[in-house]
Amino acid sequence: MNKLNERYIQIQKIIRSHDYKYYILDDPSITDHEYDELLKELNQIESEHPDWITSESPSQRVGIKPEQDFATFKHFQQMLSLANAFNEEDLKNFHDRILKNLGTNEQIEYFCEPKMDGAAVSLIYEKGILTKGVTRGDGTIGEDITSNIRTVRSIPLILKDSDIPFPDLLEVRGEIFIKKPDFDTLNLKAQKNDEKVFANPRNAAAGSLRQLDPAVTSLRPLAFYAHGIGLCKGKEFVNLQEIFSVFSSWGLPINNLNKLATSIDECFQYFKDIASSRSAISFEIDGVVFKVNELSIQKQLGEIARSPRWAIAHKFPAEEAHTEIENIDFQVGRTGILTPVAKLKTVNVGGVNVSNCTLHNLDELKRLDPRVGDGAVIKRAGDVIPKMVRVIPKKKNRANAVEAPQKCPSCFSDVVFNYQSEWTIMDTDKSKPVKKFASIYEAQKYLEKTHSPDFNIMEERLETPFIKCSGGNRCPEIFQGKFTHFVSRKAMDIDGLGQEILSALINNDYIKDFADIYVLQEHREELEQMERFGKKSVDNLVQSIAKSASVELYKLVFSLGIEEVGETTARNLANTFGSMEAIQRSSFDDLIAVQDIGPRVAAKITDYFCDAENSASLEKLLPCLTIINPDINTMKEGIKFSGLQIAITGKISLMSRDELKNLLMSEGAKVTSSISKNTDYLIAGENAGSKLEKAKTLGVRIVDADNINTFVDDPKKFF
Ligand code: IVH
Repeated sequence: MNKLNERYIQIQKIIRSHDYKYYILDDPSITDHEYDELLKELNQIESEHPDWITSESPSQRVGIKPEQDFATFKHFQQMLSLANAFNEEDLKNFHDRILKNLGTNEQIEYFCEPKMDGAAVSLIYEKGILTKGVTRGDGTIGEDITSNIRTVRSIPLILKDSDIPFPDLLEVRGEIFIKKPDFDTLNLKAQKNDEKVFANPRNAAAGSLRQLDPAVTSLRPLAFYAHGIGLCKGKEFVNLQEIFSVFSSWGLPINNLNKLATSIDECFQYFKDIASSRSAISFEIDGVVFKVNELSIQKQLGEIARSPRWAIAHKFPAEEAHTEIENIDFQVGRTGILTPVAKLKTVNVGGVNVSNCTLHNLDELKRLDPRVGDGAVIKRAGDVIPKMVRVIPKKKNRANAVEAPQKCPSCFSDVVFNYQSEWTIMDTDKSKPVKKFASIYEAQKYLEKTHSPDFNIMEERLETPFIKCSGGNRCPEIFQGKFTHFVSRKAMDIDGLGQEILSALINNDYIKDFADIYVLQEHREELEQMERFGKKSVDNLVQSIAKSASVELYKLVFSLGIEEVGETTARNLANTFGSMEAIQRSSFDDLIAVQDIGPRVAAKITDYFCDAENSASLEKLLPCLTIINPDINTMKEGIKFSGLQIAITGKISLMSRDELKNLLMSEGAKVTSSISKNTDYLIAGENAGSKLEKAKTLGVRIVDADNINTFVDDPKKFF
C-alpha cells in the first residue's frame, strides 16, 4: 500500500513533467501512446483509492458542472487596461510624457510583448497551488471561472518547483487565446455538426470561458500566456524581465516573442519586426505592448483612468478588405428609422467575417453612391462596426442609384423625413423672429416670461438625413423592435425571448403590451402546445421572466425605449430622481437640470411620459415589478465632483477626451465645452487658446492636463 502510494505521487510528477514538456516547451519526449498509458495507470490507482485523489491530480482537470451561474470575485488588485498608440508620434509622446513625469533624460528600459487578441484572466496561486481563475470583468470584479480555467492544459494546477519559493498568494495575469490552426479546426468541426461557427478566435476563447459546463470548455483548444502580475504576497520583484523569468521557472507559459528594449527606438523596431511577421505568428495579435521594465518606475508613474501610465498598446492599423455589393436594402429599427444596409459578399476584415454593412443615413448613401454589383472597400478597427470606406463602381452596365423608399418595407405605411423641430418665437407685429429654442417647453417658458401679446410660437421643421416609417406601433418591425429592446440584456434581461419566440408570442396575441410579458405564466399550458415551445422551455422562460421582475431603476428606464435615452441617461435619471414616480412627475425644468440632459432630450422624455398610451402601459407594467431604487442621498455625498462644472480645452495626451469626460462624469461632474462664471475648473492641455484666457479672466481654477491624475485623486488640492 505504501509502495502504491509512492508510485501514485511519482506518476503524478511524471505526468506533470510531460505536460510541461508538451504544452510549455513544445518539445514532448514521449509518444501520445506512452502518455496515455501513464494516464491509464493513474486512473487505475485512483479508482482503487478514491480517497487519495486531490484536486491537483492531472486527472482532475474537468470537474463537475456548477449548479447555476458563475459567482463573482473581487480581484485583489485591479486589472487595468491599456491606453492605445496608433503611430510613432503617439508612442514618442508616451515616452516623452514618462521622461517628463520622472524629470529625467535617462534611457528607459521597455518590456515588449505582442498584444494577444484573446480574453484576459487572473489566476490565483496560493503557495503554488492554483485555487482560482477569474475573468477580467469590469477590472474590479470578475467571474469565478475556476472550473473552466482548470481545463486549460498549459495552465499548471501546481507550479513547478524551482529555486525560488512560491509566494503565499500570487495573482498571475494573462491572456486565454486560441491558435489560428486550432481555431480553423474548431470551426470546421462546428460546421460539420451544424453548430454555430465562431467569428474569430477571440470570440471563441471568451465564449469557451463562459461555458457553464467545464466538459464543454475542455474540448476547446484554449491556450494561455502570462503577461502580468497582480497581488503577490511573500516575494518582491525588481522588474518585469525578472517576473517573467521566474514565472517561466515555475512552469507558467510565457510568450517567447517577448523582448527587452533598452530604448524607445528599439521599441519602434520591435513593432516593425512583429508587424512584418504577423501572418506567420500562430495566434491573432492586434498590436504590441510596451511596458516600463522597472517596477519602481512603474510605481512612480502610477495610473490614470484605469490605465497605467507606464504601459501602452501600439495597435496595428485598422484592416481593410475589398468585396462586392450584393444588395442594398432598408431596415426598420425600433424607433421607425429606416437604415440603408449593404449586403456584401462575405469578406474577412481583420479576423471578422463581414456580410452586412450599415450605410447610416441618406447623406452617407449619397456620398458613397453604392450600387448593386459595385466593389466596396470595408474597414474595421478593433471592435468597431464595419464601415464602407469607398465604392469601386462597376465598369460596365452599372446598376441604377439606390433611391429612398416611399413606403415602409415592413408595413407599407408612408415613409417620411425625420424632421427635427426648432421653435421660434415670432414677433407677429413685426413679422420677425425673436428667439429660437430646441424645445417647445423652453419657448413656452420664454413666452410666459415676456408677456408680450404680439409674440407667438412657430414650429420650424429642419430636414435630417434620416427617414422614418410613419406606421408607429402598427408597423410589425417597430412593434417587435420595442419588445426586443425591452427584453435585451442591458434592459430587462429576459432570457429565452429571442426574435422567433417573441414574434410567435406577438403574432398569437399573447404580447400586446410590456405588462403582458409578466402574465405569460397564466397561459403556460397553451404555450406548451405551441411550435418551438415545450414544457422545459416554457419553464425556463417563466423563470427568467420572474427573475427580471426585480429590476434596478435605471435598467427599467432604459428598457422603455424612450428616444434619446441610452444607458447613461437612464442612469443619470435614476440617480437624480431615485424612483419611477419621481421621474414620471419630473418637469422639463427638472430634467434639464440633470447631468447631460439638454432641452432636446428633456423634451423627448417629457413627451414620452405625457403620452396617454405610454402612461397606460406603464400603469399596467409597474405593479408587475419590484423596482430597486438607488439611494440618492448616499450617492450625492459619495461622489467626488458632485455639483462641479468642469470644462476641458487643448490637447490632452494622457487619455482620450472621451475617457476624461467619462471619468469626470462618473464622479458626478457636469462637463461642459464652454467657459462661464459657473465653471468650477478648466482642465487645460497643450495649445489651450482662448478658453484658457477666458478662464483666467473669470478667475476659474485651472488644472494643467498633466496633473489630471492628482486632480482626480483629490480635487481639493487645486482649490
Ligand atoms: S498588459 C496593465 N499585456 O489587452 C496592463 N495586456 O487593454 C494590463 N492584452 O485586458 C494588460 N496582450 O486582455 C497586457 N501582452 C499583453 C497583452 C494584453 C493582450 C490584453 C489584455 C488586456 C487588454 C489591455
